[in-house]
Amino acid sequence: MKRIGVLTSGGDAPGMNAAIRAVVRKAIYHNIEIYGVIGGYAGLISGNIQKLELGSVGDIIHRGGTFLYSARCEEFKTREGQEKGIEQLKKFGIEGLVVIGGDGSYMGAKALTEHGFPCVGVPGTIDNDIPGTEFTIGFDTALNTVIDAIDKIRDTASSHERTFVVEVMGRNAGDIALWAGLAGGAETILIPEDPYDMRDIASRLKKGHARGKKHSIIIVAEGVMNGYEFGKRLKKETDFDTRVTVLGHVQRGGSPTAFDRVLASRLGAKAVELLMDGSGGRAVGIERNRLVDYDIIEALAKKHTVDLNLYKLSKELSI
Ligand code: F6P
Repeated sequence: MKRIGVLTSGGDAPGMNAAIRAVVRKAIYHNIEIYGVIGGYAGLISGNIQKLELGSVGDIIHRGGTFLYSARCEEFKTREGQEKGIEQLKKFGIEGLVVIGGDGSYMGAKALTEHGFPCVGVPGTIDNDIPGTEFTIGFDTALNTVIDAIDKIRDTASSHERTFVVEVMGRNAGDIALWAGLAGGAETILIPEDPYDMRDIASRLKKGHARGKKHSIIIVAEGVMNGYEFGKRLKKETDFDTRVTVLGHVQRGGSPTAFDRVLASRLGAKAVELLMDGSGGRAVGIERNRLVDYDIIEALAKKHTVDLNLYKLSKELSI
């Protein structure tokens, strides 16, 4: 393979820049030309494609976001959109593509693979919801952002003896809520993977209160319900002084943690290796700290599962 492309797609995630840098440097190291697609699949359809050099990725490893820009693209879900994209890739002489993004981005990579175009998916999303990898790029940074917020909320919750509901992102997965709740010492963690019982939550909070606990922190994954709605229901059930914080897009920004930078560097380089070996249609990931790769179609057919042992532990530690 003499010329490959790279794009970022879907919701951005801290560490995407580090992944692009790894793809670019690894390719150039092996004398492969590398092209960046600007603006995800929409940029692919319109041919917004530029040659990248070693210097194009200087000074970006520590930056959040993606310097290639990102987008969610409806047109690429259609056969026509996909064919236009492949036409552009051919026009630029690009023989393989690295796609960095979440499940929507993988669907695009899967479609290209089905059209016979070699693609490798690199998991980049704060949600940690991609099958075939224990961790996605951006998850660790988002977690640290959430924990920083929880620690600050804890200060004010404790001063005012209040109950705080903190809504976190994660789409349909509870990973951010679970890991941040455990690391932040939350009293209750609500994840979409486990139905909650409001009366049980209220009774646990009341018991804690009776034991002298003056404040509580409850983490609600966005996939469960809106934090404000939950706060209203909880207040009705407990009559505790309750406040709600919705963390929102702050979770998607910021300088990537060392973990995310290293993960992104490893996965980005691995994706190039696969294309060099002629292995398109793959998705890379990490399992027990080892790099792995799967057939992208099979990977997408699997379902991401939240770590239920961790969830059990969080319940045991928050009595
Ligand atoms: O997939 C990342 C994510 O931040 C989800 O956690 C969230 O549900 C969604 O994207 C928000 O998307 P948007 O930025 O398009 O509002």
